[in-house]
Amino acid sequence: MKLDETLQPDPWHFVRPELADAYLDAFDLKLSSARGLFARRRMGKTEFLRRDLLPAAQERGYLAAYTNFWDSRSSPAPSLVSALADALEPHGLRAVLAKLGNPVRKIKASAKIPGGVEGALEAELSAPEANSGVALREVLRQLDRQKKPLLLVIDEAQVLARAEHTEFAHALRAALDIRKDRIKVIFAGSSETTLREMFARASEPFYNWAALEPFPLLGDEFVAFTIRLMNRMARRRLTLEQGKYVFEELHRTPEFFKRFIERYMLYQLDGHEAALAHTKASVFSDENFLKQWTAMKAADQIVIGLLARGETDIHSAAGLKRLTQLLGKIATKNTSAQALRRLQAHNVVTRLAIGDYRIEDEAFAEWIRRRTAPAR
Ligand SMILES: Nc1ncnc2c1ncn2[C@@H]1O[C@H](COP(=O)(O)OP(=O)(O)OP(=O)(O)O)[C@@H](O)[C@H]1O
Ligand SMILES: [Mg+2]
Repeated sequence: MKLDETLQPDPWHFVRPELADAYLDAFDLKLSSARGLFARRRMGKTEFLRRDLLPAAQERGYLAAYTNFWDSRSSPAPSLVSALADALEPHGLRAVLAKLGNPVRKIKASAKIPGGVEGALEAELSAPEANSGVALREVLRQLDRQKKPLLLVIDEAQVLARAEHTEFAHALRAALDIRKDRIKVIFAGSSETTLREMFARASEPFYNWAALEPFPLLGDEFVAFTIRLMNRMARRRLTLEQGKYVFEELHRTPEFFKRFIERYMLYQLDGHEAALAHTKASVFSDENFLKQWTAMKAADQIVIGLLARGETDIHSAAGLKRLTQLLGKIATKNTSAQALRRLQAHNVVTRLAIGDYRIEDEAFAEWIRRRTAPAR
């Protein structure tokens, strides 16, 4: 199926079949039909979902759909539709296209090329006149006819919490609500706070809809696997102890550990300490956060500083007073509104509801909290 075709085999991938089974077992037991997973950035959520969970689901007889809302954060609907369409067999897809008014002859022709049907659907859905509400209904109707249940993975699901997607979120919830026994959903994301808002707030469409839990992180077994594989190619081998030490030093972040391995392989003669120092310098120098920070206007820095400490009511009289105080000149609603607009335009801040803002990247928020003195 198409899911696998987009992924190249990766010998460095550490498989997690037990974890995949645990999630699927819970669905099979019908204990729940939706789960929410969160973990900090770069901890291996996406890799697990795509390389372990979805293939395991397919083996158990599920249709599998994956969508990453971050890639389509301004309009998630079409990307959901094409993910669902990808899960369908070609004849189901053809039926959807026919319903959408795409001449079957044209589709038959395009279906001869690999990916032709999907390509045609993709084009159809992204056409300016395409109505993704109608398309979603048709794709779901076809899915309802399938014998197999569906596992839908929504990565970066926090995008759904954005105020501008409220309508879509409601439509999605309604569609999933009536199909709980046939469509299982995993919501994943890196912002725990935003995901919590989604599932814990009574006014949100997904209120109480999924249990939210931390994603189990990669640990010593991952390190052992990676070191063993590396030692097969390295002239200077590393011990497991050295590997564990490095992993710890890199805050147990798999992505950074892989970067260390790469560096070490290229400069083995320099030793592992040198490779570690180099990796740290490139990933923790805070360079990127600092660059992002210094590029901001003073008002933006203050506003985001307030948001980082949970003071979300920036426009209130008290908020403007704080802003005036910190900025050293009179701040009006216009000052804060413009700062928030700029922060949103740069995808630094998300608006959840009127007057309610969140910093997109938890790590950046943490960095800001540590950097700026607590508000007095
Ligand atoms: N199971 C694994 N085996 C080997 N390497 C892994 C594994 N999981 C993650 N990694 C490494 O960590 C990197 C980051 O993983 P991934 O993109 O899945 O993280 P994430 O939690 O989805 O991050 P983000 O929140 O930024 O999307 C991968 O590119 C890969 O190098
Ligand atoms: Mg990811």
